[in-house]
Amino acid sequence: MTARIIDGKAEAAALRTRIATEVAALKLEKGVVPGLAVVLVGENPASEIYVRNKAAQTREAGMNSFEYRLPDTLSERALLDLIAELNVRPDVHGILVQLPLPPQISADKVLEAIDPAKDVDGFHPINAGLLALGKPGLAPCTPLGCVMLAKSVHGSLRGLNAVVVGRSNIVGRPAAQMFISESCTVTVAHSQTRDLPGECRRADILLVAVGRPNLVRGDWVKPGATVIDVGINRVPKDGGGTRLVGDVAFAEAVEVAGAITPVPGGVGPMTIACLLANTLTCARKKHGLSAAA
Ligand SMILES: NC(=O)c1ccc[n+]([C@@H]2O[C@H](COP(=O)([O-])OP(=O)(O)OC[C@H]3O[C@@H](n4cnc5c(N)ncnc54)[C@H](OP(=O)(O)O)[C@@H]3O)[C@@H](O)[C@H]2O)c1
Repeated sequence: MTARIIDGKAEAAALRTRIATEVAALKLEKGVVPGLAVVLVGENPASEIYVRNKAAQTREAGMNSFEYRLPDTLSERALLDLIAELNVRPDVHGILVQLPLPPQISADKVLEAIDPAKDVDGFHPINAGLLALGKPGLAPCTPLGCVMLAKSVHGSLRGLNAVVVGRSNIVGRPAAQMFISESCTVTVAHSQTRDLPGECRRADILLVAVGRPNLVRGDWVKPGATVIDVGINRVPKDGGGTRLVGDVAFAEAVEVAGAITPVPGGVGPMTIACLLANTLTCARKKHGLSAAA
């Protein structure tokens, strides 16, 4: 069997189109244009690309993008002052501080300073707590995109065995919470798990967010399972240069799985689309409307 390739680019484009329609309706009905502020401290080339893409896609969806590019010598106090200013600005509905931050700035302090109602990354302890309680809040973008991709295959996830490899606060842990809320039976595996291949083989949905190229082999995948590969790893290419691979050995897993996300072109594009969805949700909630569809 060869797995269906889950087209993250197409799913993300469809989500962005739905968001743009809702943004236009919000403008028409309430005169409100959602605004996203993105703060980049220092000159990390990868972060610079992310920020540029985020800003472009925000504008394409009809929202306002406010970008702040600040020097890597910035003090923690200056960043906290900027956050305080953005927290009270009525035209800013979402605030994202691009990580990593330079060593003189505590990421925890900064993330906790963001108004939870504008926390489009879903990293504030209040939003993490709401997610853990199964209550409505703002959920982190990458796992949100993963759950959407899994639902694009299965419709309902109820009763399925979801195995999440990785327990980071950014991906694995919130993904596990979301799968619980989808009524999956959830296992979370990590570096101390005793029988990782055995745990993976029980998965109807196998989400891998580790950061180790090709960690998960084809014979770890249950036949017909849905594999969501979050990993982004740059490895040397035959003949020179580099290429991106995931955490799953794609060529092996594609022969066994029922559906699988490619790297690149799977989870990655969904992350920014979910950021736009969260920004729209923040703007809608501020004006007494329900979360974005
Ligand atoms: N597509 C996207 O938009 C997107 C977004 C975010 C991240 N990513 C990618 O996703 C990957 C994971 O990111 P992250 O931020 O979650 O990473 P992270 O914070 O480094 O967490 C990695 C997790 O993997 C676990 N782990 C490490 N080695 C393992 C092993 N040999 N077997 C089983 N588990 C192991 C760690 O376990 P312990 O907790 O026990 O140490 C940890 O929980 C990276 O490649 C990153 O680039 C992609």
